[in-house]
Amino acid sequence: MNIRKAVIPAAGFGTRFLPATKSQPKEMLSVIDKPLIQYSVEEAARSGIGNIAIITSRGKSSMEDYFDTSPELEQFLEEKGKSDLLEEVKRISSLAEFCYIRQKKALGLGHAILMAEKYIGQEPFAVLLPDDIFDCPTPCVKQLVDVYSEFKGSVIVLGRTDEEGTKKYGIIKAKQISERVFQVEDLVEKPGPERAFSDLAVLGRYVFHPDIFEAIKKTAPDKKGEIQITDAIKILLETQPVYGYIFKGTRYDCGDKRGFIEATIALALNRPEFSRRLREFLKKLMAHSS
Ligand code: UTP
Repeated sequence: MNIRKAVIPAAGFGTRFLPATKSQPKEMLSVIDKPLIQYSVEEAARSGIGNIAIITSRGKSSMEDYFDTSPELEQFLEEKGKSDLLEEVKRISSLAEFCYIRQKKALGLGHAILMAEKYIGQEPFAVLLPDDIFDCPTPCVKQLVDVYSEFKGSVIVLGRTDEEGTKKYGIIKAKQISERVFQVEDLVEKPGPERAFSDLAVLGRYVFHPDIFEAIKKTAPDKKGEIQITDAIKILLETQPVYGYIFKGTRYDCGDKRGFIEATIALALNRPEFSRRLREFLKKLMAHSS
């Protein structure tokens, strides 16, 4: 099956990164040399998705500029003979066809996804949360698309988590149907270790049947007044099966400062131009700090 469209919600306040996010979007914070959101856009593009709606809000127009062409910069790089950089800059604006949709108030992730209802129409679509960087030989969203094609139902990506994770993520109760695929029976947002059904956490990639929009409309806001996608999936479950899939690869949670630092170190260690010197630097640093 071909999934043509993706939604990237990027309208939140990014409060865990304050003050850095006071006047710039969290999604534009750079991990090494690329803003967080570019990792998601590239993953969608590598999964064969050519149309991307970014859910945005006031003060976040730098994302629109970033994925647009930049004639002055391109001309400057051309004049200076910096052809590698020129190619890289041009590549960014041709990664996909972009559409920007405003979420007027940050009323939660479910509400942000609902903003894309008209854009998506009646076809299955992917959702990528830019907080999560997935480093996988087969792009994570492509793995989910394959599961969607086989099982003909919405798929959420899962990862095994620990006690701390039960306070950060949605946790599912599920029936295992193959090594990596589960049929979801129930799910709860951030239950904490006492109320967690399992160690299976919902991470930031989804492929949804378009019926998710009706489910979101029926979802009541939580205690904080936010419409959670986890609660909407629970409503979707009443009418159709939903699957969970343990992805193959590595994921970095860049939604908070520690995860962001870890992602930066890990991804830099994978880059040949930094790897050796960075390893030496980290060794020295560790020797001094112990
Ligand atoms: P997060 O909860 O991680 O992002 O939502 P946040 O709210 O911006 O960050 P904190 O918790 O205050 O630090 C995951 C993704 O969903 C988007 C965010 O922009 C982020 O990319 N989001 C969240 C929306 O688009 N709208 C919302 O109402 C909430």
